[in-house]
Amino acid sequence: MNWLRRQLPAPALQTKLDDMLAIAGQAMGAVRRILTDLRPGVLDHLGLWAALEALLTEFQQRSGLSCHYDCPAQVEQCRLGREAEIALYRIVQEVLTNISRHAQARDVSLRARTIGRDLLLEVSDDGRGMIAPSQPTSFGLLGMQERARALGGELEIDSTQGAGTTVRVTLRGAIA
Ligand SMILES: Nc1ncnc2c1ncn2[C@@H]1O[C@H](COP(=O)(O)OP(=O)(O)O)[C@@H](O)[C@H]1O
Ligand SMILES: [Mg+2]
Repeated sequence: MNWLRRQLPAPALQTKLDDMLAIAGQAMGAVRRILTDLRPGVLDHLGLWAALEALLTEFQQRSGLSCHYDCPAQVEQCRLGREAEIALYRIVQEVLTNISRHAQARDVSLRARTIGRDLLLEVSDDGRGMIAPSQPTSFGLLGMQERARALGGELEIDSTQGAGTTVRVTLRGAIA
């Protein structure tokens, strides 16, 4: 397309081709994003914490929300095993998707803490909040809960209408 653009004499045609190049560029970006969504290679290369930080940075750029990543070095030294890392990554992806779709938030924070050998991972937003179902039936929330349980963990949603939402995953005994 770049070659063709150089051959075209008429500015109007060049402009058309510029539009086509832009669309092709966007499509390539989308494919790349879908691929990393399907198989987050960044997990294998950098580990969960760097992958989450990158996910949050990318989310901030796409959504325009102000995002904070807060994981102490002591947590960042922990590797959790491939299955657990993928599950936590997927949970955070779904939480961020929900925030952009439903929350009308301005700020998003991802926090990790250890309490003894337990690991806590929280994502909070300052949006409209929700009435958290005691037992979720919608697929997003259900999927997150099932992923957490498959790791032997728990997922809780703390939310008050009008006062934001926190999704917390607790993995007991995850820290070696
Ligand atoms: N961060 C959030 N802020 C406000 N509402 C939320 C948030 N996350 C989820 N919800 C509410 O919970 C519902 C269920 O979420 P989910 O199971 O992921 O389904 P979906 O995203 O497909 O609607 C959403 O439709 C929305 O009403
Ligand atoms: Mg959802």
